[in-house]
Amino acid sequence: MNIKNNAVSLILEAKTPEELEEIKLQFLGRSGALTVAMKEIAKLPQERRPEIGALANEVKQILEETIKTTGNSLKKQKTSQRIQKIDITEPGIKPNIGHLHPMTQVLSDVVDVFKTLGFQAADGPEIELDKYNFEILNIPKDHPARDTQQSLYLDARGSDLIPGEVLLRTQTSAMQGRVMEKIRPPVRVIVPGKNFRYEQVDASHGFEFWQVEGFLVDTNVRLTDLFGTIDYVLRKLMGEHIKIRFATTNFPFVEPGVDTYIECTVCKGRGCSFCKNSGWSEIMPAGMIHPNVLKAVGYDSQKVSGFAFAIGLSRLVTLRYQMDDLRLLTNPDMRILEQF
Ligand code: DAH
Repeated sequence: MNIKNNAVSLILEAKTPEELEEIKLQFLGRSGALTVAMKEIAKLPQERRPEIGALANEVKQILEETIKTTGNSLKKQKTSQRIQKIDITEPGIKPNIGHLHPMTQVLSDVVDVFKTLGFQAADGPEIELDKYNFEILNIPKDHPARDTQQSLYLDARGSDLIPGEVLLRTQTSAMQGRVMEKIRPPVRVIVPGKNFRYEQVDASHGFEFWQVEGFLVDTNVRLTDLFGTIDYVLRKLMGEHIKIRFATTNFPFVEPGVDTYIECTVCKGRGCSFCKNSGWSEIMPAGMIHPNVLKAVGYDSQKVSGFAFAIGLSRLVTLRYQMDDLRLLTNPDMRILEQF
């Protein structure tokens, strides 16, 4: 009985299958306690042998069974421990690392190219005064050019603002006045930023769009300097072999006004919905700064002259990557962004 109690308590305390195996040998092995005891039975008087023998067999059975069930549960424990164990040599799961949005990538290229030409980048407010968005730019209150700008004025009720004086800026040209009021020529500044217009959204127009405005004022700045600058910048950004075309146009703050086109990269000049079947894409309106603008910021228009331009940034991105719809750039589908 002693053997049985001892053995059972030891078996139940076993922590590993190896420990269990040792206990098994200790009791049931060739010279194990129970085996030895069972051999001793033969030495007992004849009449006691059956009773003691039966008892010993019963103990043996109990021990074998307890060992078996304990063994099974130890095995189970071991496998679940193995699952929880961390193997530090196993290759890790790679996190999905993001990258710069194509607009940001192209914008930093634009800033870099202009830096090499001595331009500095400035930042300005998206909520703008009518004075900077229009008045200083030679677009007075009743000017028909305001109609093309689909402006979103802010509700000034209940504030100190004068109604009709505050709007979401429609053009980064608004920064011409803000910058030139503060600094004297020579001026070389670019202004990347977002603009807002009440526009019908389509493949090539958004109600919220990025422009990089730029302006340069110095002595003896000529139209050919503007052409040379545009030509240099566009070839750096879009490739040396692109085709560029200039046409006249009208913006109240420049005289003469210039529209810059590059051959449509989406259809390679054959004509598509993106370039409205013309084969050319408008990319960079520009011009020589109007004397009225120079005067409005306090410059002497007899002594200094300058040029200004705007790059439609989303247009530049879509043309660079031959995308036929501007809206793809703000589509949240990761399969689009992962391609850049
Ligand atoms: N601000 C104009 C617009 O958004 C674009 C523009 C045209 C900017 C000619 C210029 C320029 O600086 O010279 O419609």
